[in-house]
Amino acid sequence: MAFQVKPLAVVIALSWVLSMQQHSSSVNGKPQVPCFFIFGDSLADSGNNNLLDSLAKVNYTPYGIDFPGGATGRFTNGRTTIDVLSQLLGFDNYIPPFSLLNSSDILKGLNYASGAAGIRKESGRQLGARISMDRQLKNHKITISRIADILGKKRAKKHVHKSLHSGVKKWLAKKYLSKCLYSVGMGSNDYINNYFLPQYHDTSKKFTTEQYAEALIKQYSQQIKKLHKYGARKVVLVGVGLIGCTPTAISAGTNGSACVDRMNLAALQFNQRLVSLVDQLNSNLTNAMFIYINSFEMGSGDPAAAGFKVSNVGCCEVNEVGQCKFDQNPCKNRSEYVFWDGFHPTEALNQINAIRSYSSAINPADTYPMDISHLAKLKFNHRVAAY
Ligand SMILES: *[C@@H]1O[C@H](CO)[C@@H](O)[C@H](O)[C@H]1NC(C)=O
Ligand SMILES: *[C@@H]1O[C@H](CO)[C@@H](O)[C@H](O)[C@H]1NC(C)=O
Ligand SMILES: *[C@@H]1O[C@H](CO)[C@@H](O)[C@H](O)[C@H]1NC(C)=O
Ligand SMILES: *[C@@H]1O[C@H](CO)[C@@H](O)[C@H](O)[C@H]1NC(C)=O
Repeated sequence: MAFQVKPLAVVIALSWVLSMQQHSSSVNGKPQVPCFFIFGDSLADSGNNNLLDSLAKVNYTPYGIDFPGGATGRFTNGRTTIDVLSQLLGFDNYIPPFSLLNSSDILKGLNYASGAAGIRKESGRQLGARISMDRQLKNHKITISRIADILGKKRAKKHVHKSLHSGVKKWLAKKYLSKCLYSVGMGSNDYINNYFLPQYHDTSKKFTTEQYAEALIKQYSQQIKKLHKYGARKVVLVGVGLIGCTPTAISAGTNGSACVDRMNLAALQFNQRLVSLVDQLNSNLTNAMFIYINSFEMGSGDPAAAGFKVSNVGCCEVNEVGQCKFDQNPCKNRSEYVFWDGFHPTEALNQINAIRSYSSAINPADTYPMDISHLAKLKFNHRVAAY
């Protein structure tokens, strides 16, 4: 509902957040957290699917038309919400994708997100290869042992030791990882590329939407607890947005509504349980903080109030899987469009969503129980006994 705020107020609030941010990062020159790890789907993917045998990959024009690096595999015209968040957090560079990485920059974080991926292993299967949440966690485990080696070498050099016991290296890594920020955004493909595709998946025959939300959250809970076990202490959980209002959903028929109501209702049922999971994790796991990003709230309200002119069709002509057709000219005025292709928002919307996730000053309902700027500032003691 925050879009109902007067546009001028939104613009002033956004530019205030941005100018404050630029000020603070130029003063100390260091990001607000030393590292940022990203788990998710196409909304966050920055190239992990490029090397996969999959229809869900977009390393071709016109994707990236407004991005300095061109078509990197990001599912939008410019920056993703994660890219803008990295800037707000004061990082000089975007967080690189896990699959394309070969440098020691992994200490600043990695992006594991994969288009078409879900909480459930089979979600997105009909599009080809993708990296499910369980596999993203396995990739993170690989990163952790690399970080342990890097930190171990640094420590050994400093103290002129030949090598360190593996337990000490693990402890160094866990201590470091507890300072990082983690963003996890999953669930959309468990609906769009699973439950609501009965021609490829049988989940809608096995579960009601309530039962399905329950089953998804149960599995997600295990995955998030594993991430915590791997040392994550500051975790952002991004809720599912208005999946019934994407151009692809709308073009399939809305039965008289503005959007496909049953898809949005299913997303709400999932989000409701995700909020309750956040409460449980915060009370059960001390010395850690989990926050919820209310993407659904951010997508509600009148897009015109934020300066958008088109919200029911995307900016480019799409193919049979809702992605921009290869090498076609997209619309010229991309900042007037909410959607870039059949599913994914434009950079213009990503920028607003990132700012609202970073600071809840515009609308307190955007984040729970705190926003990312406050989460980043928290400090947790790493228990020495952990190894
Ligand atoms: C690996 O690192 C080198 C040097 O930084 C870079 O030129 C190259 O593009 C990187 N390769 C990949 C696959 O990222
Ligand atoms: C369409 O809307 C009518 C009236 O609200 C409802 O009875 C019907 O079940 C809807 N059909 C579908 C396919 O959602
Ligand atoms: C939190 O603890 C309660 C009480 O022990 C338990 O019932 C619940 O399942 C736990 N929740 C999570 C997410 O671990
Ligand atoms: C693009 O949108 C901006 C902001 O709404 C507007 O000022 C500008 O005139 C538009 N340009 C074109 C070519 O439509």
